[in-house]
Amino acid sequence: MRKDHLKYLACPSCKGDLLFGKITQGSGDEVESGTLDCPRCRKDFEIKHHIPRFVSDENYATGFGLEWTKHARTQYDSYCGANISETRFFNETKWARNLAGETMLEVGSGSGRFTEQAASTGAMVVSIDYSYAVDANYGSNGAKPNVLIIQASVYELPLREAFFDKVFCFGVIQHTPDPEKTFQTLPRYLKPGGKLAADVYKMASSVRGVLSCLVPSKYWVRPFTKGVPPEKLYKQCKAYIEFMWPLACVIGRIPKLGHWLNWRLVIADYRGTYNLSEEMLKEWAILDTFDMLSPAYDYPQTIETFHRWFQEGGLQEIDVHYGYNGIEGRGVKR
Ligand SMILES: C[S@@+](CC[C@H](N)C(=O)[O-])C[C@H]1O[C@@H](n2cnc3c(N)ncnc32)[C@H](O)[C@@H]1O
Repeated sequence: MRKDHLKYLACPSCKGDLLFGKITQGSGDEVESGTLDCPRCRKDFEIKHHIPRFVSDENYATGFGLEWTKHARTQYDSYCGANISETRFFNETKWARNLAGETMLEVGSGSGRFTEQAASTGAMVVSIDYSYAVDANYGSNGAKPNVLIIQASVYELPLREAFFDKVFCFGVIQHTPDPEKTFQTLPRYLKPGGKLAADVYKMASSVRGVLSCLVPSKYWVRPFTKGVPPEKLYKQCKAYIEFMWPLACVIGRIPKLGHWLNWRLVIADYRGTYNLSEEMLKEWAILDTFDMLSPAYDYPQTIETFHRWFQEGGLQEIDVHYGYNGIEGRGVKR
């Protein structure tokens, strides 16, 4: 981290200022390793591999750490050759391309494909993730002067409340133990008038009705996979996709039904959704098949619930609708 980024951090407990304790490695403005101290709470926090860490690597999100280390670049536009992350970031947020002078908070960055987009606006981007995916993000975005990457949990953010002009949280809420609490944390970090963009998986209406057999197949398989050690499960997912891929390619070409059938077979098939090469389609399939089966939590929501969260979070100009990732929403803090 850069020394001049200290001003963006606060003690996760008392929200007071943090100070540099010892700096064991670093040069000039850059701190590679050392500690951050809270004089009031008498606690210190490690800076390791350039990243301030407020949680340990061993937590329920360890599988995400593995996922984004193995696929540190898979979903980056510059790697996969399609403008997928750029299009989604600007469509989903509806924010301007130039936000120089603003501060932005990203919750749950994963590999950092959206950190890259956020940083391209010129805003100061503070990007947090609970898992060691932060190291992958650092590899891609850490050298940018307007990016600060932190390993922390949304439930105990080492940041000041009512501080940010923009907050976004994509692909995360359903993967936390208490999605409503996670959501309600987000507006607290916005200034009055600040803008929030977030999304959540959509609960299939059949989940609640008699047609429960139409629940996406992953929910049948997950009880058997979510406890499997991530390394082992990743190998199994990779082997499954390698084995099934020739068949998935044939099935995927069946008009109308093919794509749906592949997802029923728990194959993350983006053929026809994204304009990717065959090689990339397979790489995305391995990544997202693991992403479906490994998370400790996967709690989809209804659109009514998500809308209510925005209202109860003190947001106005609410726009919640079906979209990226299932349900997407935007709002402005009163
Ligand atoms: C599916 S990934 C999405 C990553 C990225 N936003 C994207 O869409 O490419 C979900 C991320 O949420 C993170 N996450 C889960 N629980 C979290 C928590 N309590 N605090 C912060 N991040 C969390 C995981 O570590 C993981 O990287």
